[in-house]
Amino acid sequence: MTIVAHERFQSPADAPDYEIDRVSPVGAGAAAITLKGLEKSFGGNRVLRGINLHIPAGQFVAVIGKSGCGKSTLLRILMGLDAPTVGELHFEDAAGKDTQANARIVFQEPRLLPWLSVAENVVVGLGDKIDKRVALREAEAVLSEVQLSEKTGDWPSQLSGGQRQRVALVRALVSKPGVLALDEPLGALDALTRISMQELLNRVWRELGFTAVLVTHDVSEAVHLADRVIVLDEGRVALDLAIPHPHPRRHGNADLAELEGRLLAAILGSDGGH
Ligand SMILES: Nc1ncnc2c1ncn2[C@@H]1O[C@H](COP(=O)(O)OP(=O)(O)OP(=O)(O)O)[C@@H](O)[C@H]1O
Ligand SMILES: [Mg+2]
Repeated sequence: MTIVAHERFQSPADAPDYEIDRVSPVGAGAAAITLKGLEKSFGGNRVLRGINLHIPAGQFVAVIGKSGCGKSTLLRILMGLDAPTVGELHFEDAAGKDTQANARIVFQEPRLLPWLSVAENVVVGLGDKIDKRVALREAEAVLSEVQLSEKTGDWPSQLSGGQRQRVALVRALVSKPGVLALDEPLGALDALTRISMQELLNRVWRELGFTAVLVTHDVSEAVHLADRVIVLDEGRVALDLAIPHPHPRRHGNADLAELEGRLLAAILGSDGGH
């Protein structure tokens, strides 16, 4: 896919603390994320109860856990859409300095603007720095790569759910994010569309090298896409599991199925190893 910043990739060796052999490059704008002692309460409801995490730049992390365990709350705090009650959140650049990352979020529902065309929706977040006609041409090129070239002039209401979600993902990607947060972005899609969107996400992540945090209910999706899967349980990290397999991954791999089993056991609270 040529959305893209092919420029200025760092070598994987520049990414500190990276436990897994990374075959894909880390993107120049990718930020590391550090959470220290993060807590969030809504009234007396302690939703996040001390999260400590370091996510190296360019890592793909999936966050799974039971409904209501605090996944969306964690993402909202990462995105600056909500403030923690206690604790710290930092984005760091490659030199380890605090930075303002270009952070984008994709939600389960596409949230397109109904009064703008598909192509205009894609460029809407790019601001004034880019010439609108140039941006629209780029949007059209990218849309054709996700099989939407026929739809660039349509209204969002004329698209199917899966097509709309592709537009929402493309909109986040054209801004060349340093950090991409995804809150169940594929949850409403049928199985086949879901798999093709997973492939798209994986391919673009390998090309752009942003830091990704994906919340999903689907353990198999987590294991298929992520370098590392975090299980949240009652506001704490119950399991932090590396998935040390090269990308792209094949569905049905036996080693991945074994990791999937461990994660399921952890979610269900019967993980013998932990
Ligand atoms: N703005 C809010 N005000 C009050 N309580 C909230 C608010 N947002 C979330 N909560 C509470 O925080 C808890 C965690 O919610 P959150 O949306 O983070 O869960 P989740 O893990 O994303 O669940 P799901 O898998 O169902 O999306 C829930 O008990 C919810 O009621
Ligand atoms: Mg949620």
